[in-house]
Amino acid sequence: DKNKYFSGSYQQIQLIPSVMIKNILLFATILIFIACNQPSQEMTINKKKPIDTHSHSIPSESKTQHLSLDLTADFDNQILKGTAKYTLINDIKAEQIILDTRDLTIHSVTVDSSMVEYTLGKNDAHLGQALHIPIDPESKTITINYETSPTAAALQWLNPQQTADKKHPFLFTQGQAILTRTWIPCQDSPGIRITYDAQITCPKDLLPVMSASNPTEINATGTYSFEMKQPIPPYLLALAIGDLDYGDIGKQTGVYAEPSVLEKGLYEFSDMQAMLEAAEGLYGPYLWERYDVIILPPSFPFGGMENPRLTFATPTILAGDKSLTALIAHELAHSWSGNLVTNATWNDFWLNEGFTVYFERRIMETLYGEEYANMLAMLGFQDLQHEVHALGESHKDTHLHLDLDGRDPDDGMTDIAYEKGAYFLTLLEEQVGREAFDKFLKDYFETHKFQTLTTDEFEVYLDKHLIKPYSVDINIDEWIYGAGIPDNCPSITSDKFTKVDAIVSKIPNGELPTQAMTKDWTTHEWLHFIRALDDDVDSKALDALNNSFAFADSGNSEIAAAWYEKSIKLGHYDYFRPQLEEFLFTVGRRKFLTPLYSALKEAGDIKSARSIYAKSKPNYHSVSTQTLDALLDVE
Ligand code: BES
Ligand code: ZN
Repeated sequence: DKNKYFSGSYQQIQLIPSVMIKNILLFATILIFIACNQPSQEMTINKKKPIDTHSHSIPSESKTQHLSLDLTADFDNQILKGTAKYTLINDIKAEQIILDTRDLTIHSVTVDSSMVEYTLGKNDAHLGQALHIPIDPESKTITINYETSPTAAALQWLNPQQTADKKHPFLFTQGQAILTRTWIPCQDSPGIRITYDAQITCPKDLLPVMSASNPTEINATGTYSFEMKQPIPPYLLALAIGDLDYGDIGKQTGVYAEPSVLEKGLYEFSDMQAMLEAAEGLYGPYLWERYDVIILPPSFPFGGMENPRLTFATPTILAGDKSLTALIAHELAHSWSGNLVTNATWNDFWLNEGFTVYFERRIMETLYGEEYANMLAMLGFQDLQHEVHALGESHKDTHLHLDLDGRDPDDGMTDIAYEKGAYFLTLLEEQVGREAFDKFLKDYFETHKFQTLTTDEFEVYLDKHLIKPYSVDINIDEWIYGAGIPDNCPSITSDKFTKVDAIVSKIPNGELPTQAMTKDWTTHEWLHFIRALDDDVDSKALDALNNSFAFADSGNSEIAAAWYEKSIKLGHYDYFRPQLEEFLFTVGRRKFLTPLYSALKEAGDIKSARSIYAKSKPNYHSVSTQTLDALLDVE
């Protein structure tokens, strides 16, 4: 694999002739130097940007620069069909370019205007096949004529029944981490950046939208044009097609949703423009022009996905009281951490997510106050403790810098990157003070905008701009390369949660909270309350609580899911089986599904788990079924 490293030797070879002309002696010296220093030369080569083992491409040799996509969405056959044309950068005059593909049917490949013979490499279940395309030093473009497979892992084709309005089919893509190659042949590494334009043709009653400039209403032709002028990594290429309406929130912000969902979405996300302005106030200008959110059908496997200019979001955050909008702040924050400054490989995932969680909480603090942000941080800390416990305290996946080589990156992308990452930044903030830390972060985004960074490169920058100037003395290596939660992890407290704790502690004595005691509680207090219930809470108390507060019928997905999980763990859940089944049947968000199916499994009820899963699986995206197939040991 050595040829995949940026090779330092090209430069040296070019240097030698000019040196030779001037001074033959110096040339000899250099030769001797090179000969005697083989090992150290190796080291300098290996120190160059590490390669991304999750891509077949070799961007150090030849790179794609701009993509022109022309696709037709065939809903009857569940296929995207058309061409991907790239302009090239070939600085070192490479004789081939390699793209990632998985599950694609390639019809032809053209270099400039001639058809060429390409080869497809061996298939790997997760990485797919390398597409080798022969090029010349002068080649300007490559065009791949292809179609996707109905089983393309990035794509979910929904029938009308699986949408909110149940009238029209729907399609959406999910690229992160390495799924874009299942719908576009591309150099599918986060270390790559391309600009793109696209032409999408779809059924005339549907509207396509992308991570690009977007239409707001359907036209008569069924063909639409898109443009993304800022260079983005391929995992951020995104497309959704459905019966979509659009509504404005603020001057740069708006919502796309199915007609029956739009009003609810506009109400729920009404603070979006204010969030964007708060974010700019913290860490500098928003460089993507518009920020819109599309509310997808409930099968969307994530809470949100930060596709540039157009966040993809689950409808499960439409609580009716704006209480779950931290997720929007999170995806918006990715417009800086992730989309502007991108992790170079998936091993550096914490650079995307840890920074984003920290940033998300700062946005929420700016809008709703410190207490609000502290509650989010405390719930996050509980997630972190839970994840460390689940993985095992000394497990390598509890390191911030991950080692995902040879694995599906998706398997190692846990809450660690998010919460340990955010707490690490909180620790740095504590060390140097908020003012200095904010300046550091703002400069960090400005300095690295539209670039990618490895953990090593971040450490060098951190050292120079924060650690040295402020004489910070903390165990950075332990945080980044060590397991578990370091001893100096900041402790964040919340007065509101302290009050909740006092109430929870009395439940085993038969003292249950009353309506009056809880009338001002927010979603976050309820979540903390449910999480805090312990083994000493018996079925009688659980019944009484549910009678008073109707958790099992909550319209708030986070509260309902937390209650289901806790009750299954405490062994008292027969009374809400219909609601649980309905929830698992409609919602495809993996963050809810995994704990619920695991809880059933652990409760010795794998039979229910498998039978609900068998019925619900057609409603889930491949991202979720991949995890659940393994969990429930089914195919
Ligand atoms: N980028 C992630 C989603 C993701 C991560 C997709 C890894 C594929 C691989 C997104 O920004 C995210 O973190 N979403 C969270 C919500 C957030 C508030 C923690 C989610 O979906 O739950
Ligand atoms: Zn994220």
